[in-house]
Amino acid sequence: MLIRKPDDLRYSEVTPRALFLDRRAFLASLPAALLAREAFAAKLPDVHPSPLSTTEKPNTFAEASSYNNYYEFGTRKDQPAKLATGFKTNPWTLSVEGMVKKSLKLGHDDLLKVAPLEERIYRHRCVEGWSMIIPWIGYSLSALLNKLEPTEKAKFVAFESYYDLKQMPEAPSAHIPLPYVEGLRLDEAMHPLTMLTVGMYGENLPPQNGAPIRLTVPWKYGFKGAKSIVKIKLTDKQPPNTWNIINPPEYGFYSNVNPNVDHPRWSQATERRLGEFTRRPTLMFNGYTQVASLYNGMDLKKFY
Ligand code: MTE
Repeated sequence: MLIRKPDDLRYSEVTPRALFLDRRAFLASLPAALLAREAFAAKLPDVHPSPLSTTEKPNTFAEASSYNNYYEFGTRKDQPAKLATGFKTNPWTLSVEGMVKKSLKLGHDDLLKVAPLEERIYRHRCVEGWSMIIPWIGYSLSALLNKLEPTEKAKFVAFESYYDLKQMPEAPSAHIPLPYVEGLRLDEAMHPLTMLTVGMYGENLPPQNGAPIRLTVPWKYGFKGAKSIVKIKLTDKQPPNTWNIINPPEYGFYSNVNPNVDHPRWSQATERRLGEFTRRPTLMFNGYTQVASLYNGMDLKKFY
């Protein structure tokens, strides 16, 4: 077995030779996220840096791939990295349909070919109050939607995640309606920052981060970023979104990062960046103020 040394693995964490020779003990000693990376990772070719990136220092791969929300694979942060390791993402079909002139079905390899791949280092702010900096790889959702030619009637975009009890036996214990669904207004979906993400840290996405394709909307709370998407549908009505279905007073449709609108049970004024001790102030629109004009004239306390 070829064992690579990921860049973010410290020398103090490198396994002693005797332990390495005992394969079972070695595997049991490895953090789940790194194991999954060995089994799954492939470097993505021809990735170009994006001017949309923040210059802040990214979190480590280990942080981004072992502290996850993916309820289909368990509700604890450490569970998806362990329980999604065998998730089968090839073959895959992403169906893009609805109020469009041309609908499309994309297979696993097509997902990488929609547009040139860019690395975009984005802020990632969860509604629970933690944040990370993640170098995602993908392209603007608009590159895909423009190929389909949305009709005049299309006003929203609905997203649906994969759901299969056989592959996700832990899912019912999450007690949330599945499949996971999300939605954006069409102008939000067409904003260049809105990204279809196929990789991170130079490689394809690990299963726990939403392989093979997920949504990334950096000015919104993380839950808008539906993982492992199988359907994108253009509609004329505001689509349902999972957390809003579960608890409407706590989770809205817009869910723009907003330090001035508290969650009913906690303040959103500050956040804890993973790996840091002191909380830092949360920025309006997570710092992506270029999207402010999308919400001109809207009361963002009402449309939370
Ligand atoms: N997508 C699906 N299908 N299932 C989920 O449970 N959790 C959401 C979102 N997408 C979730 C999902 C939540 S609550 C967050 S904060 C982000 O994924 C977390 O993304 P990350 O694990 O890559 O940080």
